[in-house]
Amino acid sequence: MTYQGLILSVVFIMLSEIVTQKKVVEVGGNVTLSCLLMGSYEILQVTWQKKNTGMNENLATYSLSKGINIVETYRDRLNFTRLSLNDTAITLWRARIQDDGCYTCLFNTFPDGAIPEHTCLTVYGELRGSLHYVVSESNLTATCSANAWPRPVISWIVPKAESEQTEEVVTHPNGTVSVISKLYVNSSTSLAGQLLICRVRHMERDRDYSVKVKEVPWLLATVVLLIVFVVLVLTVVCWRRCRKKQSGESLFQVEASS
Ligand SMILES: *[C@@H]1O[C@H](CO)[C@@H](O)[C@H](O)[C@H]1NC(C)=O
Ligand SMILES: *[C@@H]1O[C@H](CO)[C@@H](O)[C@H](O)[C@H]1NC(C)=O
Ligand SMILES: *[C@@H]1O[C@H](CO)[C@@H](O)[C@H](O)[C@H]1NC(C)=O
Ligand SMILES: *[C@@H]1O[C@H](CO)[C@@H](O)[C@H](O)[C@H]1NC(C)=O
Ligand SMILES: *[C@@H]1O[C@H](CO)[C@@H](O)[C@H](O)[C@H]1NC(C)=O
Ligand SMILES: *[C@@H]1O[C@H](CO)[C@@H](O)[C@H](O)[C@H]1NC(C)=O
Repeated sequence: MTYQGLILSVVFIMLSEIVTQKKVVEVGGNVTLSCLLMGSYEILQVTWQKKNTGMNENLATYSLSKGINIVETYRDRLNFTRLSLNDTAITLWRARIQDDGCYTCLFNTFPDGAIPEHTCLTVYGELRGSLHYVVSESNLTATCSANAWPRPVISWIVPKAESEQTEEVVTHPNGTVSVISKLYVNSSTSLAGQLLICRVRHMERDRDYSVKVKEVPWLLATVVLLIVFVVLVLTVVCWRRCRKKQSGESLFQVEASS
């Protein structure tokens, strides 16, 4: 092999390693993964595998002699949709979060052996988020929850105030992940009328959930004013009644003495 030929083949190997296809599908959607082997090889069989931690799981094979073979667990939602030994494609219907991961197609060639190509699939679940807050004794606790797959990432955009944050991550049986982020602010009055924003990043997009903190001092002032007013009214009413009673009593006294 010439020096140039060696360089070329190294570049080719690096390229075939680097060029990994990426596919994205929403949960429940259909997706087609494909592989193409360029060049003149004698291909005996195409094998599609899923890369799992540990070992690869065979999903489907195709050869001229044996035809199509799909493993039992995938038979109802996977099939070859391009039947050619050097140009192969499988389609997955009703994608699940569990389908998320990387796949390999192996071209079993003669006499070169197995030539692999890689494809990665991201199965994403819709983002559901919420934001609310409670104030207790001037302590404000804001809770932002986000449920999705892949794991959403939460960040806060809040006015300058001394605050603390905690985060909890829960993986559900349906494969989705919930992130619950809590923001604690000591003196909620400093946030009155201000906007709290919970920014959730999912699938390289940001979604903002926002809430405006109620103007607590204003509310407090209203309540205080109301109380003062009620007390005033009661005082006036009482004072009038007492006077009437007193004047009635004095009238009675006058009558009695006469
Ligand atoms: C997926 O494929 C099935 C069967 O071909 C079809 O009925 C369904 O509409 C497709 N779903 C989507 C989201 O394209
Ligand atoms: C695939 O194989 C067919 C026939 O076996 C051939 O005509 C075609 O050129 C090949 N495609 C590629 C990309 O090598
Ligand atoms: C899978 O695809 C092949 C050829 O594309 C077709 O003959 C076969 O009926 C399909 N199998 C199912 C279960 O749809
Ligand atoms: C506010 O919260 C902190 C920490 O949770 C607590 O130590 C403090 O007593 C609370 N203050 C009030 C006024 O509730
Ligand atoms: C809340 O206030 C207490 C005492 O006033 C302080 O020690 C604590 O660090 C404050 N916490 C936050 C989140 O500001
Ligand atoms: C998955 O489960 C969690 C917790 O039970 C739920 O909040 C979420 O909506 C579910 N997601 C889907 C797509 O069913």
